[in-house]
Amino acid sequence: MATHLADSNRDSAQAWDGEEGDYWSQNADRYERVVGNLRARLLHRAAITDGEQVLDIGCGAGRTTREAAALTPTGGALGVDLSRRMLERAAERAAAAGISNARFEQADAQVHHFDEVFDVAISQFGSMFFGDPVAAFTNIGNALTPNGRLVLLSWQPMERSEWSLALRQSLAAGRPLPDTAPSGPGPYAHADPDVVRRILTDAGFVDVTVDGVEDTSWFGVDADDAFGFVRGMSVTRSMLVDLDDATRTRALDALRATLVAHQRDDGVVFGSAAWLITAQRGV
Ligand SMILES: C[S@@+](CC[C@H](N)C(=O)[O-])C[C@H]1O[C@@H](n2cnc3c(N)ncnc32)[C@H](O)[C@@H]1O
Repeated sequence: MATHLADSNRDSAQAWDGEEGDYWSQNADRYERVVGNLRARLLHRAAITDGEQVLDIGCGAGRTTREAAALTPTGGALGVDLSRRMLERAAERAAAAGISNARFEQADAQVHHFDEVFDVAISQFGSMFFGDPVAAFTNIGNALTPNGRLVLLSWQPMERSEWSLALRQSLAAGRPLPDTAPSGPGPYAHADPDVVRRILTDAGFVDVTVDGVEDTSWFGVDADDAFGFVRGMSVTRSMLVDLDDATRTRALDALRATLVAHQRDDGVVFGSAAWLITAQRGV
């Protein structure tokens, strides 16, 4: 566990520094390919130049941290995350790639005291889980230089991403779709751009922009391969948990059929919709 953890993030830390983090670290390569097209948009918008110091919030297994570090050979990148397993994976992979200016630390970004200042803070789907988002972004802002940049990727509402809607529809097995309207921390906490603007403004950021980015997400070489990955995702596990055996089998058959329907020559592909959010620390 991170040594200094906000009370409002205890449940989240238990999940990410437990089962959830273990699953994502085991599937890091796959997950990074799923969001690869969106990641390219994030890094392009971050416009990192050599000499800059980058903070990667909720860096997971560290792909964005490594790519950011490579863009600033005489600067560096620090990835922070709650999950020890993902951070170990991140450090191993950076060492294997010969990237020596990427560092990783287990920390709750909401309350961690950063010892250095950063020119830019980025996050690929890692900044929607704060128990107190205004406190978290205030803390992150305090770690930025005046006019420092914040560039985030967060999910648009669930129904705007083809993959997310299709998986839930398959697994619903006749039940209404689970409510993913944002009401607290979670993958859809930034789904409403007005909420994001309010959080960042209250946290002292200025010039907040929220732009929609749509792209494709690759889930596997074929339906069987994609099924093995999707079967372990938390959305799948949570939607199967209350089902009796027969209904569970029906839901999984429907999931498999959906993956088959999205199989193309280059793999199983769905549409994805994210927000690319930018802001500047006020002076
Ligand atoms: C969906 S994963 C994204 C991981 C990574 N950015 C990627 O795209 O591969 C969300 C990450 O945010 C991290 N996270 C959640 N709350 C956090 C917090 N308060 N401080 C630091 N990291 C946090 C989780 O541990 C998890 O690794």
